Amino acid sequence: MESSAILPPRRFTLVTGKGGVGKSTVAALLALSAADQGQRVLVCELNTQPQIAPLFGVQPRGGERVDLPVGVSVINIEPRAAMEEYALMKLRFRALYRLVFDNPIIRSMVRFVPGMDDLLMLGKAFNHEREEINGAPRWDQIIIDAPATGHSLSFFRLPKIIHEIVPTGNLHAETALMWGLLTDPARCAIHLVAAPEALPVEETLELHRRLRDELGLPLGALFMNLVPPPLPALEGLDLCPALREIVALHAARAEAVTEARRRLSALGMPLLELPLLNAARLTVDDLQALRRGVSL
Ligand SMILES: Nc1ncnc2c1ncn2[C@@H]1O[C@H](COP(=O)(O)OP(=O)(O)OP(=O)(O)O)[C@@H](O)[C@H]1O
Ligand SMILES: [Mg+2]
Repeated sequence: MESSAILPPRRFTLVTGKGGVGKSTVAALLALSAADQGQRVLVCELNTQPQIAPLFGVQPRGGERVDLPVGVSVINIEPRAAMEEYALMKLRFRALYRLVFDNPIIRSMVRFVPGMDDLLMLGKAFNHEREEINGAPRWDQIIIDAPATGHSLSFFRLPKIIHEIVPTGNLHAETALMWGLLTDPARCAIHLVAAPEALPVEETLELHRRLRDELGLPLGALFMNLVPPPLPALEGLDLCPALREIVALHAARAEAVTEARRRLSALGMPLLELPLLNAARLTVDDLQALRRGVSL
């Protein structure tokens, strides 16, 4: 089934969902689509095995930004680099930074504050949102390949918690700005990715409830990825037992897709379906094929 929905552009976009359902693929798809529309796009991966640059056939370069030929830039944010950037911005002088953060005791104190790595990475993505060239925004859109479901709730909630815990100062003010951006439906959208199987669907429903109802975050679209192709018409064919079994398996899968579609549509988000492609490793051509099937 061809899906269609127009996603209103948001400056700050985050993609989350169960592990392995296609978050990075969807982040790349959104980036490709925005770049094709002439936007300057930065995709942020968060201290992970880089997945986006290789999808475009480009070698990642540690924590450095890579500008892909398709007009998308991608960066893998590492907490240590994020901390250095933040500290240099706030403490101004490299010597002072060294004095404070090259001290192993202070460094481990900072690193062992629960959630500090996440806050630093989110903070760096947030800084990219404010980045300017000649007084104009450097990026039209920042897309964050966010952590998977289990981790994403604490990740999204972090600025609010830190803001409440730290009563005054830079951190208090910065986290208020971050939370302001994350909860602003005019500037931010969180897209969910699911697969058409019972467990990922269940997880998506729970994630949706918690992000929207508990945290009040603005949700964007829901991507149902890995949708298997429909079964060809086989009526009247005399199938051998082995083939009949395969057909029965396909039929069960098709039923699971119908059920997933029914449950996910009930959330009332724009639902975009992406087919399961027959590829061991997706390439940029596969991404283009996925793009042609949805209107973003
Ligand atoms: N529509 C699709 N058709 C075929 N393969 C796909 C499709 N979408 C994703 N894949 C493949 O499935 C695997 C997982 O996808 P991806 O890396 O995007 O998931 P993820 O949610 O980001 O995973 P993780 O939780 O590990 O970060 C990858 O090998 C990817 O190439
Ligand atoms: Mg990923």
